[in-house]
Amino acid sequence: MDVTIFGSGYVGLVTGVCLAEVGNNVLCIDIDPKKIELLNSGGVPIFEPGLEELIKSNREAGRLRFSTDAEAGVKHGLFQFIAVGTPPDEDGSADLQYVLAVAKSVAEHMDSYRILVDKSTVPVGTADKVAKVVRDTLAKRGVDTEFDVVSNPEFLKEGAAIEDFMRPDRIIVGTDNPRTGELLRALYAPFNRSHDRLMMMDIKSAELTKYAANAMLATKISFMNELSNIAEAVGADIEKVRVGIGSDPRIGYQFIYPGCGYGGSCFPKDVRALEQTARGLGYEPQLLHAVEAVNFRQKEVLFDKIKAHFGGDLTGKTIAVWGLSFKPNTDDMREASSRVLMESLWDAGAKVRAFDPVAMDETTRIYGERPDLDLAPDAMSALEEADALVIVTEWAQFRSPNFQSIKDKLKHPVIFDGRNAIDGRLASSAGLSYYSIGRLPLIPD
Ligand code: UDX
Repeated sequence: MDVTIFGSGYVGLVTGVCLAEVGNNVLCIDIDPKKIELLNSGGVPIFEPGLEELIKSNREAGRLRFSTDAEAGVKHGLFQFIAVGTPPDEDGSADLQYVLAVAKSVAEHMDSYRILVDKSTVPVGTADKVAKVVRDTLAKRGVDTEFDVVSNPEFLKEGAAIEDFMRPDRIIVGTDNPRTGELLRALYAPFNRSHDRLMMMDIKSAELTKYAANAMLATKISFMNELSNIAEAVGADIEKVRVGIGSDPRIGYQFIYPGCGYGGSCFPKDVRALEQTARGLGYEPQLLHAVEAVNFRQKEVLFDKIKAHFGGDLTGKTIAVWGLSFKPNTDDMREASSRVLMESLWDAGAKVRAFDPVAMDETTRIYGERPDLDLAPDAMSALEEADALVIVTEWAQFRSPNFQSIKDKLKHPVIFDGRNAIDGRLASSAGLSYYSIGRLPLIPD
C-alpha cells in the first residue's frame, strides 16, 4: 500500500520504516530540509536501536523515501499519517499548530479520497479539528472529495520503539467509519498476527486511550516514589515492598520501580496535557495533579541527599554524574532527572563531571560549553577529582562497577544511586557510603 508520513521525527521515522519493512511503499515528508538531506544521505537524526539499519535496507529496496515536497506526499499515499510534534503550550496543553498545518496541507493538495491518520499524541477532540480544517480548505478550493480522519495513537517506548511497532501489545484504531477501519486493519495485518490485537473504537475513546495509558503508568511510578519516601521515613526497604506488592497479579511487577523521577517526551507532557483538557472542561483532576507534583519533587531527592551528606554546603565540590538521558538506550534528555540535578548542583556552587554512553552530544547541545560542566570520556574518568558519584540513569554498564576503583578515585567515598541500580552491600563492603531511593543509607563503620 502507498503510505505518506508527515513528520520525520521519532514517531514518524519508526512508523515509516516499520511500514516499509513489511512491504509498503512509504514516503516520509518533513518541512526541515536539513533533516531530509541527512536522511537522504544515509544519516539518522535520532538514536534508536535498529532504526539506522532498517532505514538503510528499506531505502536500498526502494520502499522508503524522504522528501520536503508536501504535494508529492499528498499525491502518494492513500494513508496520510500525521506524526508531527505536539509541544506543550505555556499552560501545559498540547500545541496543535503543526498537526493542523499538516491537515491543511493535505487538503490543499488532495484530489481524491485520503485517510488522515493521527499518530501524534493529541488531545481528545483533535480529530474533529483536523476534519474541520480539511473540510474548510477543500471548500475554499471548491474541491468535492471524501476523506476520513482516524485516531491511531502510538505506544512506542524509546529504546524499544521498533520492537513495540513490530510486535505491539495493541493497535488502537479510532474511527466513525467501519470501512476506513477495515483499511487500517489491512495496513496493520502484518503486525497483528498471533491473535487479534487491533481494537476498533470511536475516535474520542481512541484519543483518550493514549493519555489514559501514559497517565496510568506515570501514576504507578509516582505512587512508588511517594511510597519510597515513606519507606525511608519509617525505616523500611522499598525494594522489599516492591516485590511484596508486585506478587499480587492485580498489581504486577512492571512499572513499579522507584527512582529519581520519570522524564521523557511522553509522561510529563501527557499528564499535564490531560490535566489541562480536564480543567478546560470544568473538571479538576486531583490525582493527575498529584502525580505530576510527586514527580517534580522526586527529581530533587538526589540533590537533597547529596546536600545533606555534605553538611548543607556544596560550594566548590565536584560531583560525578553517571547517566544523563532520561532512561537507558536513548540519547533523549527531555525532562531528564539529570537536568534537574545538574542545575541544582550548579546553583549550589558545585561542578559536574558527567558521563553518558550516548547522550553527551545532546548535553552539549542543551548546555553548551560551561566551566562547571566537564564531560568525561568514560565512566571511570568521570570520577577524577570528584567528591562523590551519582547514578541518575541505569545504563547496564553502570550496574556492576569496580567498587574498589571507585573508592580509590573519589575524594569522599560515597555513591548516590538514583535508580537502585547497583548492589549497595558490595559498595558498602568496599568502604563506600551508599545512598539509594526508599532505603536507609549504608554507611560503613
Ligand atoms: C512511554 C510509554 O512507556 C510508552 O508506552 C509511550 O508510548 C510513551 O511513553 P518512554 O517515554 O519511551 O515511553 O519511556 P518509559 O520506558 O516508559 O520510561 C519513562 C520514564 O519512567 C523513565 O524516566 C523511566 O526511568 C521511568 N520509570 C519507568 C520509572 O521511574 N520506574 C518504572 O518502574 C518505569
